[in-house]
Amino acid sequence: MINDFTFQNTAKIYFGKNQLGNLSKEILKTGDSVLLVYGGGSIKKNGLYDKVMKVLNDADIRVFERSGIEPNPRHTTVNDGAEICRREKISAVLAVGGGSVIDAAKGIAATVGSGMENVWDFVEEQQYVLRALPIFTVLTMAATGSEADASAVISNKEKGLKKGIAGPALRPTASFLNPENTYTVNAYQTACGSFDIMSHTMDTKYFSRDDKMDMIYRMMDEHLKTVVKWAPAALQRPNDYEARANLMWASTWALNSFMTVGNRQASSCHSMEHVLSGVYDITHGHGLAILTPRWLRYILNEESAPAIARLGTNVFDLPENSSVMKTAEDSISAMEKFCFETLGLKSRLSDLGIDDSRLHEMAAEACGPDGVIHGFTDLHINDVENIYRMCL
Ligand code: NZQ
Ligand code: ZN
Repeated sequence: MINDFTFQNTAKIYFGKNQLGNLSKEILKTGDSVLLVYGGGSIKKNGLYDKVMKVLNDADIRVFERSGIEPNPRHTTVNDGAEICRREKISAVLAVGGGSVIDAAKGIAATVGSGMENVWDFVEEQQYVLRALPIFTVLTMAATGSEADASAVISNKEKGLKKGIAGPALRPTASFLNPENTYTVNAYQTACGSFDIMSHTMDTKYFSRDDKMDMIYRMMDEHLKTVVKWAPAALQRPNDYEARANLMWASTWALNSFMTVGNRQASSCHSMEHVLSGVYDITHGHGLAILTPRWLRYILNEESAPAIARLGTNVFDLPENSSVMKTAEDSISAMEKFCFETLGLKSRLSDLGIDDSRLHEMAAEACGPDGVIHGFTDLHINDVENIYRMCL
């Protein structure tokens, strides 16, 4: 059924090559200081750090820094950033990086804005984030959609857990998307990010037996096709502006609430993947690429076949076969070929050092307190364990 919905996305996007000069104007609307949050040094190597600092310094914005944000950002790092904000009375947070850096910045902003000490309390109590410092982002990698969405994913290394927080205050005030800033993303991260973009659309009830908003369903096809077309181009020509621009905008649109309207998000593969990267610290998009075709094989039956076949004909340009089941099987093979040949990702969890020792425990965690992941086919603990096993 098409549920009632309210659509609002307030993130202001500055897209393109010559937009960074607007950053100081946006920050100054909220205060005169900023915590600059970034990762392991890619922005220093490619010169973006200097460009951002110049804009901030020219506008006399007081800048404090928290660097070293880990991929799969840790709650302890977030808490540390929050402490700097409190101590220095900083008025806004600026993330310059990919999803991990942005999510850490969101965690910092939420912890300070809500007067909390520990971001993990939000996670455990599943509090809706209604107060946060203003968040600004300069995106350096097309993948998560965090640049315009209202959620963040935080890891707790000690507990081996990775979980999301959500709420309107987490939506960035303004995000700066210059595709040139993604030229230095290496082939592996480009591949992982591209599949993450696709997964956000597929996990939003692309495969569903419910009535859908037909307009959105058609746009999902085109969105997926865009990534299938431009990810290989970006891999072959890392400095291809058109390829990087298409991936960047596809990243934002997958999760900016537009394609989720009327659908309750299903998130089967994301629920299974977040546990994998929580326990084994793997790259999120790679985990999704390994899981998704196996999940599709697992849920393939007479009922699911038409939706899976549609992926093949509408996204991978397969010819329609007289047997819907055969077309659905060919769709899954086409997706495997895309992930493991075109994108060049290794196809098995064992390639990432994962064995069968924790599959049951991880399956239970993925299914949450209710013991089920709702989706096209509801998945219970034994189903998730079976899917993990198919991926080994
Ligand atoms: O740390 P630095 O030096 O910046 O290097 C990063 C990192 O090593 C590098 N990189 C990023 N931009 C670069 C670059 N290297 C060279 N040139 C550039 N321009 O890429 C590596 C990965 O970065 P990361 O930020 O971890 O990647 P991604 O954007 O894929 O973010 C992944 C995180 O976001 C979460 C994931 O679970 C994971 O923790 N997600 C967040 C979501 C959200 N907020 O809504 C939704 C997603 O489903 C996802 O769960
Ligand atoms: Zn994702």
